[in-house]
Amino acid sequence: MYYIGVDLGTSAVKLLLMDSEGKICNITSREYPIYFPHPGWSEQKPEDWWEQTVEGIKDLIRDVDRTQVAGISFGGQMHGLVILDEEDRVIRPALLWNDGRTYEECDYLNEVIGKEKLSEYTANISFTGFTAPKILWVRNKEPENFARIRKIMLPKDYIAYKLTGVHCTDVSDASGMLLFDVKNRRWSREMCEICGIAEDQLATCYESYQCVGTVLPEIADLLGIPHTVKVAAGAGDNAAAAVGTGTVGDNMCNISLGTSGTIFISSKKFGVDKYNALHSFAHADGSYHLMGCMLSAASCNKWWMDDILGTSEYAAEQASIAKLGENHVYFLPYLMGERSPHNNPNARATFIGMTMDTTRADMTQAVLEGVAFALRDSLEVAKSLGIDLKRTKICGGGAKSPLWKKIIANVLNLKVDVIESEEGPAMGGAMLAAVACGEYGSVEEIAAKVVKIVDTVEPDPELVAKYDARYCQFKEIYPACKPVFEIIK
Ligand code: XUL
Repeated sequence: MYYIGVDLGTSAVKLLLMDSEGKICNITSREYPIYFPHPGWSEQKPEDWWEQTVEGIKDLIRDVDRTQVAGISFGGQMHGLVILDEEDRVIRPALLWNDGRTYEECDYLNEVIGKEKLSEYTANISFTGFTAPKILWVRNKEPENFARIRKIMLPKDYIAYKLTGVHCTDVSDASGMLLFDVKNRRWSREMCEICGIAEDQLATCYESYQCVGTVLPEIADLLGIPHTVKVAAGAGDNAAAAVGTGTVGDNMCNISLGTSGTIFISSKKFGVDKYNALHSFAHADGSYHLMGCMLSAASCNKWWMDDILGTSEYAAEQASIAKLGENHVYFLPYLMGERSPHNNPNARATFIGMTMDTTRADMTQAVLEGVAFALRDSLEVAKSLGIDLKRTKICGGGAKSPLWKKIIANVLNLKVDVIESEEGPAMGGAMLAAVACGEYGSVEEIAAKVVKIVDTVEPDPELVAKYDARYCQFKEIYPACKPVFEIIK
């Protein structure tokens, strides 16, 4: 049998075809535009996601026996607000996870409703990217659109809806809406009231590995797949990536270096840190996880390479980097503001420390190191909770770079286990589909069977010590710049 994993990302939809044994049979991807209508805003058209997903699935299964396709599931960019009217038409472009426009609504939620109440209702506080402040923004700024809302969905759930006609979501993605009682895995009545919505405007919430329905006959015909193909709820991209890298069960870690950068720690037990600096979300394996999310990770390197240096030779640029742990240049990677742990939409990216002998390679190195230092900021919060990690998995586009993996291993002082494929969320989606179709008994079972570690990057004690000293300096830069970010916003 074949299982299709759809990773509905920010720059592209990535699709993966997996067989019953967990072998990856094909991978493809299709891009769509992202719109920045104002500085700090970011939007996409759900119709573009659907169009490219359809074309992507057709490409993916072109050369295989399509009668053997049994299931489809997803990893999807989290938090995005998709609103549908009475006829299930998209009301306006989706507001994405890295959209910073909702700072006033966030202040209202965190200061007027209060962080304590939010944490009690949802296990989290408000961040501009989360869905509830977006709903409040539409209510405040576009009341005519708000009045038309019949269904509120997350990005990948729109694709599940188009495939099956079912309005569904899953526990991991629902956790990032600030409308979900994470501990009890159900919608929060209180949060619905605060946002002025009725619970039936939200989708039915499933565990990630549950089947939500079968593909509609006309869609099955369009894609050329059997009418029996099942669709599983899937997961937010980080939980799906965790499944795809085998980050399930207790105290496992995965780092994702995509447009965003996340550090994801799985846990059998529900838990929240005192300041809600890390997100406390439901996991796709039926348990929980903590997560730190930085808004720009591999996208910092992409911006530096593509837009500033004007090169596509990423590996060649990195080849001239020689002096790890000795760079005097630092980079704050806050190109879209920052989420974890600073929660500041006004934070901005900065290079600091250049002198007349600073080279292009030093700047490139600073970008890679800045992302690693910012991930360490979240790791430090986890450590302060008594979480003791020795190793991590890694996935996402940035994980293709051996140098970046080495920097991360040494800045975070973690062994970095490299998986056969860095396609975390798409692989996780396919694995969730296989569980939903009964091919495997649980998410843990399939992860143990199919995820293979092919290499481990070991930290080197001497380099770890050098990077420790550098990190202590890095930590001083954001607090010093923060007042300036308020002035230049
Ligand atoms: C997680 C988050 C990002 C997006 C990226 O909280 O906002 O990782 O899911 O797709």
